[in-house]
Amino acid sequence: MREVLIAEILGKTKEYVLAHPETKLSLTQKRKLKHMQRELSKGIPLAYVLSYKWFYKNKIFVNKDVLIPRPETESLVDLAITWAKQHKPKTIIDIGTGSGAIIVSLKRNLKTKAQFLASDISKKALLVAKRNAKDLKISFKQGNLSTPFSKLLKKNSKNILITANLPYLYPKQLAEKSITKEPRLALLGGKKGTEKILKLLKELSKFKLKNSLILLEINYNQAKTVSTMIHKLMPEAKITVHKDLALWDRIVEIQIK
Ligand SMILES: C[S@@+](CC[C@H](N)C(=O)[O-])C[C@H]1O[C@@H](n2cnc3c(N)ncnc32)[C@H](O)[C@@H]1O
Repeated sequence: MREVLIAEILGKTKEYVLAHPETKLSLTQKRKLKHMQRELSKGIPLAYVLSYKWFYKNKIFVNKDVLIPRPETESLVDLAITWAKQHKPKTIIDIGTGSGAIIVSLKRNLKTKAQFLASDISKKALLVAKRNAKDLKISFKQGNLSTPFSKLLKKNSKNILITANLPYLYPKQLAEKSITKEPRLALLGGKKGTEKILKLLKELSKFKLKNSLILLEINYNQAKTVSTMIHKLMPEAKITVHKDLALWDRIVEIQIK
């Protein structure tokens, strides 16, 4: 870990630090190293200490106001890109954008004239997302679930790509040590964990989407609850559940013809 921190301070790679053990740190650099080590010893995640996390080959700025993007979510981005290249959506929407990791990755990887929109209920998270999208044309809105887009979706519900990695943990799971420093708002999905995801589905079903795709990240044990709700709300939709690398159910893909 020490090498990772020194590499960060020097602006070099970890391999460089390992290959140059003779490198001396200045007093300021030593102080910075001590500070970072103290933060880590308090249980602050490395990404918060470094202020960034690599996601889909993008360096995503993070702070304590946003969830640290997870590698599992990269497969949601893969699915979104594959579908978007084939179906050329007019509008791409990311709900619960947090750091903006998903929408920034989509914007950077899709050469399209589609409008890119993203939302979060947290104003502080949106500040982070905007910083990550500084040089990109993405429009950010604050609000609850689909509300910021309801006008748009009522008017035009064709050729839409919607991604959402909403909070999906239930209260007991928040005690897990590795996540205690991340925002509760980004983690807690209500009493059963699925509250926000199900609410979003109810809202989206009212817009009568056509030639559209919804991609939802879920927890490993939520596929059945979520799929049952989709069957009820959107009987015509084709549902596919994708597993993550650990073979847990992770992404629900909803194709609407
Ligand atoms: C699990 S984090 C995901 C962040 C980011 N999309 C990612 O994949 O790294 C969930 C995000 O949803 C936001 N959120 C929570 N409740 C929401 C709601 N009712 N409407 C919109 N966003 C919400 C949180 O503030 C948080 O940024």
